[in-house]
Amino acid sequence: MIIKVLGSAAGGGFPQWNCNCSNCVAVRSGTPGLKARTQSSLAVSRDGENWVLLNASPDLRQQLNATPELHAKPKFGPRHSPIKAVVLTNGDVDHIAGLINLREAQAFSVYGTDRVLSIVADNSIFNILAEPLVPRIVLPLDRPTPLSGAGVELGLTVEAFAVPGKVALYLEDEAAGPDLGTKEGDTIGLKVTDPATAKSFFYIPGCSQIDEPLGARLKDASVVFFDGTLFTDNEMIEQGLMPKTGGRMGHINMSGSEGSIETFSKLGVGRLIYVHINNSNPALNEASDARKTIEGAGWEVGYDGLEVRL
Ligand code: MLT
Ligand code: MN
Ligand code: ZN
Repeated sequence: MIIKVLGSAAGGGFPQWNCNCSNCVAVRSGTPGLKARTQSSLAVSRDGENWVLLNASPDLRQQLNATPELHAKPKFGPRHSPIKAVVLTNGDVDHIAGLINLREAQAFSVYGTDRVLSIVADNSIFNILAEPLVPRIVLPLDRPTPLSGAGVELGLTVEAFAVPGKVALYLEDEAAGPDLGTKEGDTIGLKVTDPATAKSFFYIPGCSQIDEPLGARLKDASVVFFDGTLFTDNEMIEQGLMPKTGGRMGHINMSGSEGSIETFSKLGVGRLIYVHINNSNPALNEASDARKTIEGAGWEVGYDGLEVRL
């Protein structure tokens, strides 16, 4: 199985168009030790020919151009794409807007929970991806589902599971109380497995807490790509960027006693890779103390183009 990180940044990317945080200023001016990053997405393939995207970011066109494996191959005729399926982990703009890049009458499948597919259905612009060419397939929770699209079996299964999180920003309902109207299926993690080798990895780009069931599920996993949005819960407030904590945004932070570094230190995972990293996160700077802390704890900082083979 081949896994490619297409985009390792959170919503907004790095640099973010309207942001003058110290990281965004530094990466824009070419300061060594900071890499520009596109928005959150992975591509996965068993055979290197047929691929599934895990999330479709607004930067997808740029990501495809940067990834030869995902280019149209002339041997298949005048129109072709190696992308046979897309799996959505929530309804965030950074995870669904790229579906619109996949128009032009190409067959593939879109997988998501009933909650996330209902967002796609409610927004008529996505009808540019019309059934039956682009079927929308409901992913059940806690059951491996074989992936296919455009008449091709990908030879991979995906198991969706609910994780603590939040409904998409533009659907938050303050009147619904502290959970903002969040329901099961609004945010999921994925376990992708190659049944032929029994190898698997987890992808959890949005998660507000590693609770007991999630910890049990991830224990002794070989590879986990995990929510690296913020280093500290209040970093966006401290940097004067936004009046929200990470918790309010539905994202766990890396540091602290409840953070991902501490929690994963007890789970025995083989390889831990942060993705969905927000531009405010000090760990984006290779010279930072935050970067030393996370690398010292055995974590890798995902970057666009990172390839993992299992
Ligand atoms: C998030 O992950 O919190 C969202 O991507 C925020 C956003 O939509 O900008
Ligand atoms: Mn996001
Ligand atoms: Zn910034």
